This record gives sequence, structure tokens and C-alpha cells, in this order.
Amino acid sequence: MAAVSQLSYVVGTSSDVPGWKKYATEVLGLEVSRDSEDNLLYVRADDRHHRIGVRAGHDDDVAYVGWDVPSKAALESAAAQLDAAGIAVTTGTPEEAADRRVMEFVHFVCPYSGVRMELVLGHEKVFLPKFRPARDLAGFNMGEAGMGHVVLYAEDILGAAEFYSRVLGFGVSDFAHIPKVGPFAVFLHCNARHHSLAFMHIPGAPRKIQHVMFETVTMDDVGHSYDLCLDRGITSTSTGRHHNDHVFSFYFQNPSGWHFEYGWGPRTVDPETWTAENYLLGPGFAWGHDGLMKMV
Ligand SMILES: [Fe+2]
Repeated sequence: MAAVSQLSYVVGTSSDVPGWKKYATEVLGLEVSRDSEDNLLYVRADDRHHRIGVRAGHDDDVAYVGWDVPSKAALESAAAQLDAAGIAVTTGTPEEAADRRVMEFVHFVCPYSGVRMELVLGHEKVFLPKFRPARDLAGFNMGEAGMGHVVLYAEDILGAAEFYSRVLGFGVSDFAHIPKVGPFAVFLHCNARHHSLAFMHIPGAPRKIQHVMFETVTMDDVGHSYDLCLDRGITSTSTGRHHNDHVFSFYFQNPSGWHFEYGWGPRTVDPETWTAENYLLGPGFAWGHDGLMKMV
């Protein structure tokens, strides 16, 4: 069983927080929390205080990724497992916990992507006011499956798969290979969502994060969002269906240069019975997503 129960939040750093504020409502269709400040934007997508955060800064990359742990005992046990694996684990300060809107957390640097991972207890829920999409969207499937997934760059994707499965109990959903090249990506689950975390090897990737995916409630939400992004010239791929999670989706760029994926209808996994799959990337296996193999 995974030490974490779901992806709770992704926070980035940006040189353009006002641009992100506009983007969050106009493009993502999300809600900017009233708790936001000039140098820290909190973006709501469901009943959590925030799912996306943007801090003022200059590197336009991911700052940290938050993962729910189900209990204090689970938090301590995960910290002990990391420590035993030789990973430095630090307890977040009360100020940092208040900033994340969690009761407490520990953090470590992912040895494969260099991204700060935060294991959090008690990420704040906001029951009222209810989340209201900023444009005509039906909303997002999150709940127990978490906010979606995050895909990070890593050179050693097989090492990352070993680390997250052996130390933190993630399950490997599948490996993607490029014919005649070798392993290219690994997709990991911590609940019924096909993948909450993935690592992709793209030599010379310009940052640590590639994309964050949100699962829309309706297929039309993907279509309308695609039209809107086409109008603005910010699509990163065409629409398509993925080989592995079967999601119908497309990718689009944010003001920091990394990407979001809005997807509908993914298949789920049963973490108790799932067997890791392996598949080849290439033409003829699925359709669409033109531009994906060039997306960094
Ligand atoms: Fe994705």
C-alpha cells in the first residue's frame, strides 16, 4: 500500500504572478482564492483550499509538490522509510505549514527529479463557499483519486520507479518504451487513478516539470477548453487518446512555459491486483496528441 493517499497540490514559481492570475480564471476556468496575495496565488479546483499555487520568483518551474498522507502514523512511517533509504527528511516549520494550509508536513528532495516533495497531513478543506468554475465548466473529478497527476523529468526513470515503489509504496502502472531506444517514461499510482506521478526522460529538458493533468467531468469540457486554447494560440498538442490510461485529452501551455493536460474518461486501476504493463510509443498505437513527442 502506498504511503501517500493522493496528490494534494502543485505549487510553482513564476516571474508573472498577475499573468497566472488571469490565466487561472480565463484559461483554466478555476477560481482564485480570496486568500491569495500579490506574491502568492492560491487556485481552487474543488473543495480543497488550493490545488495549484504560484509563488513570485524567477525560475518558472515547479517549487514543490504536496502529497496527502492518511494519518500521523503514516507520516512518521513514511519519514522513517525515507530516512532508512538515506534520504534527508525535514519537518516543515509552522509558518510553512500555515502557508500550505496543512496541519503538518515533512519534505524531501526527490533524488531523481530534484523536485521538493511534501508529505502533508490535513490539507485544509473549504466547504463553503463551494468551488465555482470561472467559466462554463462542469468541474473536475478529484475526491479520493486526488487532483490529477504530475509529470516530472528524470534521467533515470527506472531508478525513480524503484525508489517510489520500494520506499513509498507506489505501484507501477506501466512503462513506456521508444522502439530501438529504450525506456522513456514510468507511470505510478497511489490510488485508483491510473497515475498520480510520472517520470519522463527527455535529454536537455528545460525545467523539472512537464505537466499537470486535471480530469474533467465531461468530454465537452475538454472540447471547449481546446477551442479556447486554439483561439489563444497556446495549445501544445492536438486532442487525442493515450495508450496507457485511455484518457481523451489535450495539452496547453501556461505562463511559465510548462503545460496542463485536460482529460476525460481515463480508466482506473485496482492497486491490489494491478500488474505493471509495458508498451511501445509510436504511430498506430493510439490517435491524436500531435506535438506530444516534441513537447518540453
Ligand atoms: Fe498526462
